[in-house]
Amino acid sequence: MTTPIAPDFRLPDLDALLQARGRIALIVADAAKPDAILRKLDRVMRGALSRCLESPAFAKLKPGEGIDLAWPAGLQAEAVAVISLPRGASTEEARKAGSFLGRALGQPGGMILAAHPKVAEIAFGAVMRAYAFDYHTGEKPAKGGITVMSPAPDRAGAAWAPLAAVASGVFFTRDLVNEPANILTTTEFSDRLEGLRDLGVEVEVLDEPALDRLGMRALLGVAQGSESPAKVVVMRWQGGGDQTPLALVGKGVVFDTGGISLKPGAGMEEMTMDMGGAGVVAGVMRTLALRKARANVVGLVGLVENMPDGRAQRPGDIVRSMKGDTIEVINTDAEGRLVLADVLWYAQDRFKPAAMIDLATLTGAIVVGLGHENAGVFSNDDALCNAFLAAAKAEGEGAWRMPMGPGYDALLKSRLADMRNSCGRPAGSITAAHFLRRFVKDETPWVHLDIAGVALLSTGNVLAPKGATGWGVMALDRLIRDRFEA
Ligand code: BES
Ligand code: MN
Ligand code: ZN
Repeated sequence: MTTPIAPDFRLPDLDALLQARGRIALIVADAAKPDAILRKLDRVMRGALSRCLESPAFAKLKPGEGIDLAWPAGLQAEAVAVISLPRGASTEEARKAGSFLGRALGQPGGMILAAHPKVAEIAFGAVMRAYAFDYHTGEKPAKGGITVMSPAPDRAGAAWAPLAAVASGVFFTRDLVNEPANILTTTEFSDRLEGLRDLGVEVEVLDEPALDRLGMRALLGVAQGSESPAKVVVMRWQGGGDQTPLALVGKGVVFDTGGISLKPGAGMEEMTMDMGGAGVVAGVMRTLALRKARANVVGLVGLVENMPDGRAQRPGDIVRSMKGDTIEVINTDAEGRLVLADVLWYAQDRFKPAAMIDLATLTGAIVVGLGHENAGVFSNDDALCNAFLAAAKAEGEGAWRMPMGPGYDALLKSRLADMRNSCGRPAGSITAAHFLRRFVKDETPWVHLDIAGVALLSTGNVLAPKGATGWGVMALDRLIRDRFEA
């Protein structure tokens, strides 16, 4: 597992800055009034810092943006980043300021000088952006540490503690999403989830015979063409006494070939990320356990692989879900909704949750509609939905509510069964959401998050290098903090 760097918070120390060999980030709250240590550094740098601060280029920087001074005279450092961050900057801006160091962090490590109220958020940005995952062989020096200098290091360290839990949860998610499908089989996935027991999460793995006894024929139909057995993993974090739990449900298709309705070859390798929803659920559970959240949350993931095979499900097959409804499988590539149908039903049947949120890389159509900026949000409950949207906004994770309505639901009509799993191109993400809604009880407040466009990025963003983002862990942790904790 990729472990986030644990920053070392300490008092500002001019000598350490002069000796540092890696990168230095100077957080400047007010260019007109640099504090004493910045003025001392400026003298060592023969005025380069003050010239930077007085330049029009610095004046043009948005909060959180910076300018790199490479190989600065008078210092040992590779570069000094001069970053503009007003005292009243937002959380998102503070994280961006830190990410400037994280993205360029190398083996000698980095130092941040930040007399700033949001110093822990600055550190968080640096740690999150320093994530790296690959299978390159050959010498690859590990990234060095991060030292954060602040006038109140104890306060910064205390503010960091819950953020460390979030970073660890996000890295857990990113690792799972980045892993190729030959490594992350359904069994390897459930093994990694069982590792959460060490943190106090109760983990239960339901195998194929158990799923069969429960009647999860919709989920099992998807898995039947694969050598990897289907599994449903139930993770329970009980920090909230006798409170009714929040249920989080994730689509965990470890690889999606499309099945007999085979996908085209170009880009198919991306479908290693089709377990992204399950990955986010796992990351949130890890974060909750690490920060000992005072909430009851149950995470359920449906783990399957969608493969074409002599035993694979065919287009035209009709399956009966655990709920009892029959489904005509028009397209074996619309498999995520078949998996979620049974896991959503099981979650409600067993746990009677106070609210339920599912995450899934469900449709290509959501990528067409919203690109990689926003996840699609669908809900039957305005209060829960608005609370989620507010949490996502506070964490800088794009989320956009999509419409639902009876006209879309009508498109699910099947000639032979209670519904069909695919109904063509128009409103593909909305009809998928309506399919899921058929398995949500009217009394369960529910949010569905279609994360197909945001789980994996081909270019990095502020907090993540290219690859898996861990989108949603921060927003859901925030929602739980704001809405479900005592
Ligand atoms: N896993 C895909 C959706 C997807 C597409 C995720 C692109 C990430 C990036 C899903 O199982 C799927 O294949 N959906 C089909 C549904 C269709 C057959 C109704 C789609 O979107 O084309
Ligand atoms: Mn598919
Ligand atoms: Zn899929």
